Amino acid sequence: MAEAGSAADFLPSQIDLPHLREAAQGCRGCALYRNATQAVFGEGPATARAVLVGEQPGDQEDGTGRPFVGPAGQLLDRALRDAGLDRRALYLTNAVKHFKWEPRGQRRLHRKPAAHEIRACRPWLEAELALLRPRVLVCLGVTAATAVFGRPVRLKDVRGLFSASPLAAATFVTTHPSALLRLRDRQGWEFEYQRLVRDLLLVRERLEAF
Ligand code: URA
Ligand code: SF4
Repeated sequence: MAEAGSAADFLPSQIDLPHLREAAQGCRGCALYRNATQAVFGEGPATARAVLVGEQPGDQEDGTGRPFVGPAGQLLDRALRDAGLDRRALYLTNAVKHFKWEPRGQRRLHRKPAAHEIRACRPWLEAELALLRPRVLVCLGVTAATAVFGRPVRLKDVRGLFSASPLAAATFVTTHPSALLRLRDRQGWEFEYQRLVRDLLLVRERLEAF
């Protein structure tokens, strides 16, 4: 069922990162706030030259209120390090700010956000990017790319390329680190990991070219 709401109704009157972050806690733009602990807003320096967009917070992010602190975040940290990028210099955020999940025994299993939820949450992302105006915007996975381009995209069509999007002139798409967490065979994992690191190296080169 599509919901009519949008985060646009919850934006603060003063648009800066601290006020946005605070206002997101009160967002009722879609139904996802109901089962989540808190909104997980973007994090990083306001002067960051690169912004990375993920899908949505996971279980640990929901608990701590910080993006990319769980298993996918740890893998991302490692790939960033291997590509020579310093996480502390980057701004990390998500296409959707509340954790969507379903119970599976004692665990909370991640569920993919629906198109209407991605759309409803986009005003936060738009506001973050309007303030940050990064030189490079990196979409981690298809949900992020769909949010950023404002239309459905296929990873294989856009991966590893820079192109203009409505949210940044230099927009780059790569895989989501959680896609690697699902790979069971070691060779496949190593191949995909090196591919992710190569993609992040392209981002670093682009940043250094400015
Ligand atoms: N996966 C995401 O897409 N974002 C996070 O913050 C954590 C895991
Ligand atoms: Fe608002 Fe986004 Fe949370 Fe939905 S997921 S309630 S739009 S912050």
